[in-house]
Amino acid sequence: MQTHVFAGFFGGMAAAVTLQPLDLLKTRVQQAPAAGIASAVKSLGSIHEAWRGTLPSLIRTSVGASLYMGLLSKFRDIRAEHSARISPLSIEKSSASSILPKLSALDNVLTGAAARSIVGFIMMPITVVKVRFESNHFNYRSIWSAVYDISRGPSGWKGLFSGYGATISRDAPYAGIYMLFYEASKDVLQLGWLPSPLVNSAAAVNASVLATTLTAPFDTVKTRIQVSVSNLTFPEAWKQITAGGWRSLFDGLSLRLARKALSAGISWGIYEEIVKLVAKRNILANETT
Ligand SMILES: *[C@@H]1O[C@H](CO)[C@@H](O)[C@H](O)[C@H]1NC(C)=O
Ligand SMILES: *[C@@H]1O[C@H](CO)[C@@H](O)[C@H](O)[C@H]1NC(C)=O
Repeated sequence: MQTHVFAGFFGGMAAAVTLQPLDLLKTRVQQAPAAGIASAVKSLGSIHEAWRGTLPSLIRTSVGASLYMGLLSKFRDIRAEHSARISPLSIEKSSASSILPKLSALDNVLTGAAARSIVGFIMMPITVVKVRFESNHFNYRSIWSAVYDISRGPSGWKGLFSGYGATISRDAPYAGIYMLFYEASKDVLQLGWLPSPLVNSAAAVNASVLATTLTAPFDTVKTRIQVSVSNLTFPEAWKQITAGGWRSLFDGLSLRLARKALSAGISWGIYEEIVKLVAKRNILANETT
């Protein structure tokens, strides 16, 4: 499990650093609706500025990714015990792009969704604090003052978990659908001419595009619920959004697609390579002792 935590950490970190400029542009575009992407790019004084705010998002992403990969691999191992397990020998000989256990379609969906729900819960306080920090309605000077203030609010400690239901109704289906398509895409791409790191990255991009598109309505509903002053329920928010046509459920999809697909491509590509490297080193170490 440590290997997966470690590999997940570096995969998440690489994705966060590489994609920070995209995140920053997205924030600036959303801040000023009149400004397009071109003027947001122009607003950057220097190339340096594009990486502003990297540290907090880096910590959040890499901690989240390492927890998720650790738990996911644990769940997948448990399920794999009921099907074929991969022997160390086959790892060494194998030319496969990935040494993750093979699971049934249902197990791929369920392990992904379960791991995401649990990690989402653990990370929720950090997410809530981050959003409060970004919003200019609050002027917190430290993380601790934010935590203290939120926990003394009307809902107490529960305030640190506000929006969990809405968040998980988007993230659990995403993770389940992603794992299903990711494993399927690796099998398809494996047969082509791509080298293995690219097989995994391309499969991740393919899976992420499909999963992001299919879960887009949940993201739109979540945002609508979170920014509404009154307590909108899920069906109410859905009805409100689709009043002008179902297409509104997919508002803002292109920016999210770019961000999520690139992030999945980078982090899963690196994650799989580190997992393979560590497994091969362990085999070599066992042979020489
Ligand atoms: C993308 O995923 C779909 C669904 O699993 C699959 O049918 C298709 O072959 C994949 N494409 C590539 C290039 O992997
Ligand atoms: C929203 O719901 C919560 C609990 O369900 C309640 O305490 C709160 O007063 C409600 N807020 C509004 C604006 O209706």
